[in-house]
Amino acid sequence: MLLELQDIHVIFQRGWLRKRRGAHAVAGVSLALEEKGILALVGESGCGKTTLGRVALGLLRPTSGKVLYEGKDIWGRGGKGLRPTGQTVYQDSYSALNPVRTVYQTLAPPLRRYGTPRKRLREETKKLLEFVGIMPPDYFLNKYPYHLSGGMRQRLVFARAIIPKPKLIVADEPVSMIDASLRLSILDLMLRLNRELGIAFLYITHDLATARYFAQAGRIAVMYLGAIVEEGRMEEVLERPLHPYLRALLSAAPIPDPELARKRELMPLREAEPPSAEHPPPGCRFHPRCPYAQEICAREIPPLRDFGDGHRVACHLVETLPPWRLT
Ligand SMILES: Nc1ncnc2c1ncn2[C@@H]1O[C@H](COP(=O)(O)OP(=O)(O)OP(=O)(O)O)[C@@H](O)[C@H]1O
Ligand code: SF4
Ligand SMILES: [Mg+2]
Repeated sequence: MLLELQDIHVIFQRGWLRKRRGAHAVAGVSLALEEKGILALVGESGCGKTTLGRVALGLLRPTSGKVLYEGKDIWGRGGKGLRPTGQTVYQDSYSALNPVRTVYQTLAPPLRRYGTPRKRLREETKKLLEFVGIMPPDYFLNKYPYHLSGGMRQRLVFARAIIPKPKLIVADEPVSMIDASLRLSILDLMLRLNRELGIAFLYITHDLATARYFAQAGRIAVMYLGAIVEEGRMEEVLERPLHPYLRALLSAAPIPDPELARKRELMPLREAEPPSAEHPPPGCRFHPRCPYAQEICAREIPPLRDFGDGHRVACHLVETLPPWRLT
């Protein structure tokens, strides 16, 4: 395994004396990502995705739990200073780039640092631009970030991210600020980086549709208020969604066929708003909203159970839920 997260908890303490109760942003997450693998982490705003992504790259030390990178505990005694050779790409490509540096000035220094001889810098920069689809490279070399479209800027961010030859990229909502018409082309670029360079991806998003597209051949983990509620191969999970929260997400997702869209029933949630990470409900964190909740749900935290083929679900009542149908 490239990356293993074992029972990760992150609690953000608030206040000067740290006496007030903090936000329990990540509450016992265990996940694994294999070498060259793709994992889409999906969930709504504030559920802890970015926090977990930072833990995965060793940028944030979890309050408890283990982060194993290529089998080594990165916060353990032997692992001090060890960091995954990973990179992050965030949604806002504009603030990720230095506005007073041209495309060439953005890429040449890291290329130099990672071993490109000075006299080959221009040529290698051009090759890199071509590889990520910024073409023709000569035209773009002396442009500044504000000259570029959002899609081009994000390509530039990816070009810079692959210079250190990372084994892992955490892409945190990389297409959510990009025009809908260009989103697929950026996801296609990420797929190329995965296939041709063997880079594993943790793709963080609130959007099931792009997750499904990007991680078709990979895995999906659905996060709700700090916990993973369902996880497995993308194909299997979307074919046979078991957790009521994922079913609610799927039943609310836009579908292209208006006829079908009108006919289908939305799964009713008991409360529309998710509770906050500072005051998470006891037991199953989804129980105040779950239409199937029973007495046990408010009392006991449901463990992730395997329903075959590595399809794991955290719900007490999986066996008694009605069969899934989308329309
Ligand atoms: N540095 C911090 N200090 C205190 N609380 C934080 C900090 N970072 C995040 N949180 C809290 O932790 C929870 C999870 O935040 P996080 O940013 O990981 O969610 P997210 O799923 O990435 O949300 P979004 O989709 O909006 O980006 C939230 O309740 C947030 O308020
Ligand atoms: S454990 Fe209970 S409340 Fe939670 S998702 Fe399952 S049925 Fe709903
Ligand atoms: Mg986030």
